Amino acid sequence: MDLFKIKRGAQNGIKKASDIKTLEKLRVKYLGRKSEITGVLRSLKNLPLKERKEIGPEANNLRKDLEKLFIARVDKLKSQKSKPKTELDITRPGKKVSRGHLHPLTKIDEEIRRIFTSMNFSVIEGPEIENEYYNFDALNIPAGHPARDMWDTFWLRGNQQFPISNFQFSNKPQVSKSKSQKLLLRTHTSPMQIRYMEAHNPPFQVIIPGRVFRYEATDASHEINFYNVEGLMVGPNVTLANFKFVVEEFFKKLFGPKVKFRFRPVYFPFVEPGLEADIKFGSEWLEVMGAGMVHRKVFDAVRYNQDQVQGFAFGMGPDRLAMIKYNIPDIRLFYSGDLRFIKQF
Ligand code: PHE
Repeated sequence: MDLFKIKRGAQNGIKKASDIKTLEKLRVKYLGRKSEITGVLRSLKNLPLKERKEIGPEANNLRKDLEKLFIARVDKLKSQKSKPKTELDITRPGKKVSRGHLHPLTKIDEEIRRIFTSMNFSVIEGPEIENEYYNFDALNIPAGHPARDMWDTFWLRGNQQFPISNFQFSNKPQVSKSKSQKLLLRTHTSPMQIRYMEAHNPPFQVIIPGRVFRYEATDASHEINFYNVEGLMVGPNVTLANFKFVVEEFFKKLFGPKVKFRFRPVYFPFVEPGLEADIKFGSEWLEVMGAGMVHRKVFDAVRYNQDQVQGFAFGMGPDRLAMIKYNIPDIRLFYSGDLRFIKQF
């Protein structure tokens, strides 16, 4: 029996075997009960002692070597099998990177600022905590005036001067008056009309976006905190016609040339005449703006010469503008924090 030949044959076979089934067949052939090596080992007892001593260990070693080779080859085939055929498929579509996005109120705010700055308005801001003087008295709404009922107010305890002074402009001396320092959350952005005019001389045109607060019941078009954008344009010859042009231009830029709007006369203590603007939203008119020509008493409060200047002011609700623009039926959705809503924008 040529052990060397068996060895060569087995080694070649193992090397070439490309799957486990073939390998198993080879194992049976070379190491199984009917294999040549087993035959050799079995017939040892019939051999004379001398040959037995020679062939015995040789055949045994060969069996052990082949067993090792089989095991190694099986391991190798198994590890190859578990690997994916191609590791990188460059034709697969990439994973989507999830991107952040802006809240609809942020979008409308940016849009409003963009449109007004394109019409040469400056954008300024003011304090959310106000005092009674700026929020009411200076706007011709003295204590006890029934018009105060138009703005249900969150009053604050104490009457410290607090951060409001940070917002006083310094390039013109403050009008000294016995101003009521009773603090409140501003109910509109109109107090900034006073603060701005106290510190600047006309002509100018500004908008003042900001958050406002009202102590009232909420419903689909009312919130206790929402936004206002105040507008103020003052100069020697500013008229209601200028107001209509600016606002019409703004509506068209925001909603497109087909927007439907209307003006209605209305009363605000700090304008004369006063008006409101509505925009058609579905089948209804939604009030989006209060406005008018700045009242003489307001010019009085900021020591402007009423005979030399005139101007218009408006205050609008960006929440409502966003409702119309993005077709949102309920103002409360903006503040709900509900991702199912927010993610649509
Ligand atoms: N401040 C008023 C409001 O919020 C709106 C307004 C502003 C009206 C400016 C006239 C002029 O109701």
